[in-house]
Amino acid sequence: MNIARNIESVGVSIRNARKSYGAFHALDDVSLEVGAGEFVSLLGPSGSGKTTFLGILGGFVQPTSGSVFLGEKDITYAPPHKRDIGIVFQNYALFPHMSVGENVAFPLRARRQPKSTWAAKVRDALSMVELTGFEHRRITELSGGQRQRVALARAIIFEPRLILMDEPLSALDKQLRENMQIELRHLHQKLRATIIYVTHDQREALTMSDRVAIMNRGKIVQIDTPVRLHDHPSDSFVASFIGEATLVPVDYAATGCARLGPYHLRSAHPVPQGKEIFLAVHAEKLLIADDADDGILNRMAGTVTEVLYQGESARVFVKLDDGTKLSLRQPSNHTGLTKIKPVGSRMTIGLHPQDTIVVPKAAY
Ligand SMILES: Nc1ncnc2c1ncn2[C@@H]1O[C@H](COP(=O)(O)OP(=O)(O)OP(=O)(O)O)[C@@H](O)[C@H]1O
Ligand SMILES: [Mg+2]
Repeated sequence: MNIARNIESVGVSIRNARKSYGAFHALDDVSLEVGAGEFVSLLGPSGSGKTTFLGILGGFVQPTSGSVFLGEKDITYAPPHKRDIGIVFQNYALFPHMSVGENVAFPLRARRQPKSTWAAKVRDALSMVELTGFEHRRITELSGGQRQRVALARAIIFEPRLILMDEPLSALDKQLRENMQIELRHLHQKLRATIIYVTHDQREALTMSDRVAIMNRGKIVQIDTPVRLHDHPSDSFVASFIGEATLVPVDYAATGCARLGPYHLRSAHPVPQGKEIFLAVHAEKLLIADDADDGILNRMAGTVTEVLYQGESARVFVKLDDGTKLSLRQPSNHTGLTKIKPVGSRMTIGLHPQDTIVVPKAAY
């Protein structure tokens, strides 16, 4: 048997889902179409409705209204075990008194699959998560990352067409977490299952997903590819949630142009005309533009107020003459570091029109 070949992924469609507790909407009229084999992350602050959303998909939470389709099939009221969905929770929920093999075989037992097929399937699932030979280990004898992989093996063994994961890596340290992110991506490519993944770590979401849905207060406020979210945030909430952005109030000046103090900043993107608009500047997009004036960059002058060396890069804080504070990130290579001037010096910073992003104030 080969799990990778057998899984036939399927799209999911959530239509106008709402979950209310009294007058409070934990999930507020959310619709989302996820394509077969797609990896979509839900990213948002604590309490924004991510787990509620997964619960409705998995069947643990009854929606107040709305519907859920797995492919063509309406599963809105199907019980969890009839949904053909693999689930990995934050705390793994492994059975500590069972061996690795017994844990992984559990869904087969629950689904009354013939016992004669279990051993081969367990071997296959464990090899998929690179735990070959771990069948007889006890859960207590595993590291955090290994436990995580057992939980994954248990979620994929019955060949679900959809896998839901709720912050599955949050208990791991940084190194392990980053390795697991890459492993999960590879696993997704091998399995070609549809995956919906909850996290509140933006880096994780951007690293792993085909698309990321940004949630706030029970709503999806923007869903896009990682690159588009980063470069085209729809409003100030998304802009402040993605990347190391500083939001600076600016005024609309003309088509494709915003005014910040004495500067007219040209943008390659539409500049919204509303009253409250913000320049969303990512630290890595600001350049030290002391030497060349190629006529393309928007240039602003200020004074260096602080320099922080942070290993792979250095952070330079600059105060413009009108008092606006910006910070830029300079790569820690020789050329990059020699451009940084000491605190108190004058510095010209540049921002390319392609990187000049102006967003409206979030409406919530
Ligand atoms: N059973 C319940 N009764 C009342 N309110 C609830 C219930 N379950 C969840 N909520 C509320 O619904 C909102 C969304 O909760 P949810 O667990 O979906 O958030 P989340 O985005 O997963 O947050 P976190 O990142 O902290 O896990 C929260 O304000 C929460 O307090
Ligand atoms: Mg949650």
